[in-house]
Amino acid sequence: MRQEDPVATHAAHAAPASDAGTRAMRRAVELAARGLGSTSPNPVVGCVITDACGTVVGEGWHERAGGPHAEVNALRAAGDAARGGTAYVTLEPCNHTGRTGPCARALAEAGIARVVYAVSDPNPQASGGAATLRAAGIDTEAGFLEAEAEAGNTAWLTSVRLGRPHVTWKYAATLDGRSAAADGTSRWISSAESRADVHRLRAEADAVLVGGGTLRADDPHLAVRGIDGATQPLRVALDTHAAILPSARVLDDSAPTLLVVAEDADTRHLPGVDLLRLPLHDGRIPIHRLLTELYARGVRSLLLEGGPTLAGAFAEGGTVDRVVGYLAPALLGAGPAAFGDAGITNISQAVRLDITEAVRVGPDLRITAIPTTAPKEH
Ligand SMILES: NC(=O)c1ccc[n+]([C@@H]2O[C@H](COP(=O)([O-])OP(=O)(O)OC[C@H]3O[C@@H](n4cnc5c(N)ncnc54)[C@H](OP(=O)(O)O)[C@@H]3O)[C@@H](O)[C@H]2O)c1
Repeated sequence: MRQEDPVATHAAHAAPASDAGTRAMRRAVELAARGLGSTSPNPVVGCVITDACGTVVGEGWHERAGGPHAEVNALRAAGDAARGGTAYVTLEPCNHTGRTGPCARALAEAGIARVVYAVSDPNPQASGGAATLRAAGIDTEAGFLEAEAEAGNTAWLTSVRLGRPHVTWKYAATLDGRSAAADGTSRWISSAESRADVHRLRAEADAVLVGGGTLRADDPHLAVRGIDGATQPLRVALDTHAAILPSARVLDDSAPTLLVVAEDADTRHLPGVDLLRLPLHDGRIPIHRLLTELYARGVRSLLLEGGPTLAGAFAEGGTVDRVVGYLAPALLGAGPAAFGDAGITNISQAVRLDITEAVRVGPDLRITAIPTTAPKEH
C-alpha cells in the first residue's frame, strides 16, 4: 500500500474541488496518456494550469524521458499567467534533480499559489515534492481524482511498486477460445481492425515479448506500424537455444531487439544481436529473473504477445497484471487453446479476473480484465 504524504492535505478530507478543478484534472489525465510508451523509465504525467478565475492558461505533459516534465511544459505554455494560479498535476511534483530540475521548485518560482495533485510519488528518489511546495508557502492538496489518475498511470505505478515491469497479456481467439486451427494455421483469427488496435497497444508498451514457439511458427515482426510518431518498443524474444535464423523478421533494424537465450547457447551465427544470457531453471528461461533484467533496462510496461505456453508460464508465476483478449465471432472446435498450462488442476485455482472494459473493435469483441488477486513481485 502506498504511503500517503504526511504534509499534504488529502482531498478526501478537504473541501470538494470545483467543477473547473475536476475538468482540469480530467484534462491532465488525458494529456498524460499522450506520453504512454515514450517516457520510461519515467511515469506519464499531465498538468493543467488555471488562473485565479479558473480559466485554463497552460497545458503540458511529459512527452519523453529526458525531456521537460509536464509541469515545466505547462508553465512554459502559461507564461506570466501562471502567477497566482493553480496547477493540477496527475502525479506529485518531483523534488529531485535528474536530467531536468525539480518541478516543485519550478512551480514555486513561477508564483503558483496552489497545487492539486492526484497520486503521491512512490519513487523514493522523486517523492517529497509536496513538502517542498508546502515549505514554499504553496497551498497543496493530494489525492484529488486519485483513482482516475492512477488508472492512467497503472503500468508505471505497478512497476515501481513491484520492481518489475507491468505485464499485459494480449491474445486473439475464436469465441470457443482457440488460438489456431488444428493444422496450426492462425492467420487471421481476428479482424484487421483488431490487428490495428494491437499496434496501439504495442506503441503504448516499452517492450513486446514472444516465446520460441511463436517465433518459429509465425516469424513475427513485432514493430509498431501505422501510428505516426510512435516510439518503437523493445522487441524481446525468448529463444533458449538460439535457434533463430539471422534472417528472422524480429531481427531487422526497424526496432531494437533483445534475444533471451540460455547462458551457454551457441550464438556465433548471430553477430551484432543484443543478447541477454540467463541461467536456465528447469530447462526454461526463468521469468522472474527475466522481468528483473528488463526492469533494470528501463522497461516499465511489457506487452506479452504469446503464445499460449508462455502466457501460462507468466500466469503461473503471478506476473500477468492485465489481460486484453480479442474475441473473434468464429468457431474452430479443435486446435490449441489461447491459454496454456498454468499449473491449474482444480476449478478453485482458476485465475479470476475483473472485466474493466468490453468494446466492439470491428466485428470482434475486445475484453480487458485484471486479476482479482494482488500482483506478485518475485
Ligand atoms: N492467437 C494468439 O493471440 C497467438 C499469439 C501468439 C502465438 N500464437 C500461436 O501460438 C503458437 C505458439 O505458441 P506456443 O505455446 O507453442 O509457444 P510460445 O508460448 O510462443 O513459446 C513457448 C516457448 O518459449 C520458450 N520458453 C523459454 N522459457 C520459457 C518459459 N519460462 N516458459 C514458457 N516458455 C518458455 C520455449 O521455447 P525454446 O525452448 O525454443 O526457447 C517454449 O517452448 C503458434 O501457433 C502461434 O501462431 C497465437
